[in-house]
Amino acid sequence: MPVPLLDLRAQHATIRDEVLPALEKLADSQLFILGAPVEQLEREVAELSHTKYAVGCASGTDAILLALKALDCGPGSEVITTPFTFFATAGTIHNVGAKPVFVDIEPRTFNIRPDAVAAARTSKSKAVVPVDLFGQMAAVEEVANAVPGLPVIEDAAQTIGARRMIDGEWRMAGEAATIGTFSFFPSKNLGAYGDGGMMVTNDQGLAERLKRLRMHGGSKMYFHDEVGFNSRLDALQAVVLSAKLPHLAQWSAGRRKNAEYYNQAFADLDGVVTPYVEPNNESIFNQYTIRAQRRDDLQNYLKERGIGSSIYYPLPLHLQPCFAYLGYKEGTCPESERAAKEVLSLPIYPELTHGQLDEVITAVRGFYGR
Ligand SMILES: Cc1ncc(COP(=O)(O)O)c(C=O)c1O
Repeated sequence: MPVPLLDLRAQHATIRDEVLPALEKLADSQLFILGAPVEQLEREVAELSHTKYAVGCASGTDAILLALKALDCGPGSEVITTPFTFFATAGTIHNVGAKPVFVDIEPRTFNIRPDAVAAARTSKSKAVVPVDLFGQMAAVEEVANAVPGLPVIEDAAQTIGARRMIDGEWRMAGEAATIGTFSFFPSKNLGAYGDGGMMVTNDQGLAERLKRLRMHGGSKMYFHDEVGFNSRLDALQAVVLSAKLPHLAQWSAGRRKNAEYYNQAFADLDGVVTPYVEPNNESIFNQYTIRAQRRDDLQNYLKERGIGSSIYYPLPLHLQPCFAYLGYKEGTCPESERAAKEVLSLPIYPELTHGQLDEVITAVRGFYGR
């Protein structure tokens, strides 16, 4: 039986009776741009994230871009981030005209190292962008403490609904940052039927600016305070996401359960390091990412048996050809470079059956001769 890395049709089958009528109703209204459905989703995501404001936009990429703009990151400024992330985190920094400054990760969580952030700060630093990788929140409070006064944009594209115990209280992904950003790309735990994104904040001034920036920089039609973008969340996506949101906690719990099942099955395997979740974190396991000996051979072995897997991410961003102008050499972020050679993400979606999980386990164990 093949086991894909992700099977969105399995999820759709469980909710089609909730989603399709909502889509039909919206089609009947013919009101597609922003409006009540987007406002409703913004309220729901703000509530989930324990923030005062949420602002929808066209994608997780744009959410970072708009956040950077709202914090005046532009030419002459530096923005500190991790090179072990999806390209958008740094591509947006470049695209606002700022300079990405890459610092290394903590090898167990794959998330940015707060002490490295502190060491990278200069008089040009304008913001820091920790990324909550694979569903586990970065040490956002430690990052903020490491660079007092510097705004924190938490790239929570992979982490909506995750939480972290900070000073004795559970804080949601996006909550402890100056601005938190989400992606509703279909493969995310809360995925749209296309692209979508959102920014959350507790700062009213920032929320208002983000709203202007997503609509060409104007607070009133045809009057522009600054030059912004066309980056609106589609109302069609908003109704899909509002229909899915009540299921998010249960889906993420299903992923955690699957992760636990794998962890136990791989515990005695020398070739595999299972994901580490800090005791003060609750991951939503957007990915289940192992470190594997002979990783590329393992991936081929799984492929031959119809088992999907993926390498997130094969080349850290400081070594990407497009960032050669920044002058990073191999060896500057050794843990990111090592992770890129060792990581492999396995199927973890909540609709996986026990039979499918066992198939993945048998194949991985078989590869290592166990
Ligand atoms: C860490 C990270 N940042 C940013 C993004 C960009 O989100 P989107 O694909 O919605 O633009 C993604 C999603 O792919 C991501 O995983």
